[in-house]
Amino acid sequence: MLAVTDLTKSFVSPEGTRVEIVSVKAFALAAGEQVALRGESGSGKTTFLHLIAGILAADSGRVMLDGAEMTALGEAGRDKLRAGKIGYVFQTFNLLQGFSVLENVVLGMSFGPRGADRAHAKDVLARVGLGHRLDHFPRQLSTGQQQRVAVARALANRPKLVLADEPTGNLDKKSGREALALIREVCRENGAALLLVSHDEEVLAQFETRLDFGALTEAGKRASPMNATGESPPQQNQQNQKGGAA
Ligand SMILES: Nc1ncnc2c1ncn2[C@@H]1O[C@H](COP(=O)(O)OP(=O)(O)OP(=O)(O)O)[C@@H](O)[C@H]1O
Ligand SMILES: [Mg+2]
Repeated sequence: MLAVTDLTKSFVSPEGTRVEIVSVKAFALAAGEQVALRGESGSGKTTFLHLIAGILAADSGRVMLDGAEMTALGEAGRDKLRAGKIGYVFQTFNLLQGFSVLENVVLGMSFGPRGADRAHAKDVLARVGLGHRLDHFPRQLSTGQQQRVAVARALANRPKLVLADEPTGNLDKKSGREALALIREVCRENGAALLLVSHDEEVLAQFETRLDFGALTEAGKRASPMNATGESPPQQNQQNQKGGAA
């Protein structure tokens, strides 16, 4: 379903040096598989999800998604592929503040293969317990409710792959548990694969497969010529300290 090979991404630091953030030799998800990704702050987890989703362009390497090559596409092509196959739950929700709850979900759907289906959007919002808040604006909702809108928007197109970046990070324990259960349940129902980033041990413990991003990207970095420059950015030090346990 998802296959990542030799994927790299570097950024230019404020001092002008190039710092390699992501260097993943191989990572794969089967259809319907659910995997949790943990890792130090700043280690590159969000960058990795952005590369998979095609929000960012990779420097090199491959992301294959359900038979299509994300990394072969330009920005417009990546946007289209993402809209068709991926549901993304952003850590900070990224709701459109000027639009109602229902409009946020309908607009999200309008770029996808099913188009703007208001009836389905209402169903999904009812499913996340917001059937009575369709005409509210994001600022009129609690944080947990805003996160549920973000979850509804990500799931409304029945994506093949759901990427969730610390989806419970801004929520209290109860809302967090509910949001997580909902994401996992809907993914199971739709046969969608789930890649979820979290640093919450309670969240991580629920996943059979847990990966450490430091370990995932470290092998690639050791093999990378970029390390031969002697530059040792702080992100790499953090990862080295963890000793690469997966
Ligand atoms: N556009 C950018 N330009 C320069 N550096 C960037 C850019 N985006 C991210 N970085 C750097 O890449 C590193 C990884 O960032 P990223 O957001 O992927 O980390 P993360 O693992 O998701 O962290 P957190 O757990 O805190 O969310 C950081 O050191 C960050 O400063
Ligand atoms: Mg992040």
